[in-house]
Amino acid sequence: MPQTINIDKQNIPFSEGQSIIEAAEQAGVYIPHLCHKAGYKAHGSCRLCTVTVNGRWVSACTEPAEAHQQVENNTRELQSQRRAIVQLLFAEGNHHCPFCEKSGNCQLQAVAYSLDMHDTHFAHQLPQRSLDASHPDVLLDRDRCIQCELCVRASQEYDKKNVFALSGRGPSTQLIINSESGKLKDSQINKNDEAIKVCPTGALMNRSKPFSIPIGQRQFDKIPIDQQNTCVPDTTEAST
Ligand code: FES
Repeated sequence: MPQTINIDKQNIPFSEGQSIIEAAEQAGVYIPHLCHKAGYKAHGSCRLCTVTVNGRWVSACTEPAEAHQQVENNTRELQSQRRAIVQLLFAEGNHHCPFCEKSGNCQLQAVAYSLDMHDTHFAHQLPQRSLDASHPDVLLDRDRCIQCELCVRASQEYDKKNVFALSGRGPSTQLIINSESGKLKDSQINKNDEAIKVCPTGALMNRSKPFSIPIGQRQFDKIPIDQQNTCVPDTTEAST
């Protein structure tokens, strides 16, 4: 008999070493997340995956699954807190979905829809961080970066290049480029790098084929994020 955890009254099997979110994804149960991605080491920074385990708040991407855990995920309180986190992210950056090339393929936008977010609630910070358009094929818009470090991890672990890092503290934290000039054009980045594909927002984009998939036919236009199995690697242009 496989060991199980219980999420929202549903028994879910897990394997030794899996986190709660990994067990949930394997069973097709959606726990909202941004800094987690199947196949990547847990990061635990966005806190969107916060659930309660036996009444205690934990992040599902860092908490190991253990037999008989009683997990609450889809509650009104947790969804409301998640909505507030996403509203803060929208207020803190410049996420203008109607004219963003990533619209429909953007995980931040898709999570906002799934959490029934209708406005940003908080005052917009309107940051003016630098944009790096120095590379012919890759664009970095730091105003859309949510600092999940997926690109940092992808570049190190999958692309074996170490192109990105986060630098600074608090509000001055920003994504920096590992090259002599600090610009993408002098880095080892390539438009096919996993680091570009893994970005959950429009911060890093392949600019060589803009709008190659028409608006309305993109990944989250077709199926809402909470109905997609994010444990299965996505092979479309912008994966989650
Ligand atoms: Fe768990 Fe970000 S997905 S903290």
